Amino acid sequence: MAKIKSVFVCNECGYESAKWLGKCPACGAWNSFFEEKVSKDPKTVNGIEKKKSATPTQLNKVIGTETTRMSTGFSELDMVLGGGIVIGSLVLLGGEPGIGKSTLILQICEKLKTEGTILYISGEESAEQIKLRADRLKVNRESLLFLGETDIDIIEEAINTTNPKLVILDSIQTIYSDEISSAPGSVSQVREITARIMKICKSQAITTIIIGHVTKDGNIAGPRVLEHMVDVVLYLEGERYFSYRILRGVKNRFGSTNEIGMFEMEGLGLREIQNPSSVMISEREDNPPGSVVVASIEGTRPLLVELQALTSQTIFGFPRRTANGIDYNRLTLLVAVLEKRVGLNLGNQDVYLNVVNGIKINEPAIDLGIILATASSYKNSSISNKLVAIGEVGLTGEVRNVNLIEKRLKEVEKLGFKTCIIPESNKKYLKDKFNLEVIGVRNIREAMKSAGLI
Ligand code: TYD
Ligand code: MG
Repeated sequence: MAKIKSVFVCNECGYESAKWLGKCPACGAWNSFFEEKVSKDPKTVNGIEKKKSATPTQLNKVIGTETTRMSTGFSELDMVLGGGIVIGSLVLLGGEPGIGKSTLILQICEKLKTEGTILYISGEESAEQIKLRADRLKVNRESLLFLGETDIDIIEEAINTTNPKLVILDSIQTIYSDEISSAPGSVSQVREITARIMKICKSQAITTIIIGHVTKDGNIAGPRVLEHMVDVVLYLEGERYFSYRILRGVKNRFGSTNEIGMFEMEGLGLREIQNPSSVMISEREDNPPGSVVVASIEGTRPLLVELQALTSQTIFGFPRRTANGIDYNRLTLLVAVLEKRVGLNLGNQDVYLNVVNGIKINEPAIDLGIILATASSYKNSSISNKLVAIGEVGLTGEVRNVNLIEKRLKEVEKLGFKTCIIPESNKKYLKDKFNLEVIGVRNIREAMKSAGLI
């Protein structure tokens, strides 16, 4: 008989301790320790059977098997996965509650190009609820089975009896195992359930998609305990009250993680967007002051988005800075650069900056756009709506070079812009010719001159 002992596990980060602690030494969370019973002699580790001995093999003698993939029916999703979902792989789809994970997966059930049964296990919704949604999404596949269950033992049995090609677990936080005393959704439950699902699905080459809600600090089930166990980790991101969603690969054992997919949530579910840049800038007004288009890179794909800035006289003596979709500290820094290097008196101005459509950008190449939009609003002078700005801005006001400039310029050209302001250091090494006026600038003063603001 395996010995049973108990450990205390932090529910936030998975830190283990022999005794109960009030504060977790690893993540600093208070009152997060729960007692767990653990078998001292586990038969499996991460879903793989323990062996008594093993001999290493020569790697170049190992005969590899081709990875076979199936198309999900969404080209954007296939791209993020690296060309379709690998048969027998374990995919984790994370995202905030209500962002559209269940919707996306249900739509795949209809579109998936494979024969064989799909087993949809939901611990969150009843069969009637799923049916209602399926009807709305026009999902009507005969081989789609539904199981509303939260007990892993019953789920395992159902997988064994139905012999599905694809198993969907919605969501990992609702499934539990009797053998573990803590509540569903806790670190040890989530870890145990994933290990058991992995064992059964890997041994039978069943493709599995696990849905997981992320907590407010962006982690799945508190900690990232699952990420190292699964083959692929995808995140569905977006602002809840905007319709655009970005699907991002965070980990992929079968491809690159540099791709993103774009979707729009509509009345009939998610629709993929194949030319995101043109959608992002489609609602632009003619040329209002404070608006400028920037070319950022999302994954490996260029994305044009509109930035809007608004400056207004501070009323209470303490100027406000508000940033939506970009880092707040970046905005305050760039405002300080504008004050010091160009002499704009922003010390008595509130500055609001917004990336249109609820998109978040975390890339330095949009710095120059932030500078120009802010200056344009302050001076109440418009920038041409046929102009795009690209460049990172340093503390001395210099415009620094950015990567993938040709890719960005190609997108700018494709969408019919006439002028593009880029760093001089990038312009010197441009190889391709573009049907654009490309202006190289060394500092923000030159950029403002080129944009007609000085
Ligand atoms: P859902 O897939 O249930 O989110 P998750 O599984 O990530 O928690 O998505 C729920 C939201 O999506 C809900 O607020 C309504 C919206 N929605 C649409 O706008 N159109 C649709 O066709 C569907 C099915 C949902
Ligand atoms: Mg859901």
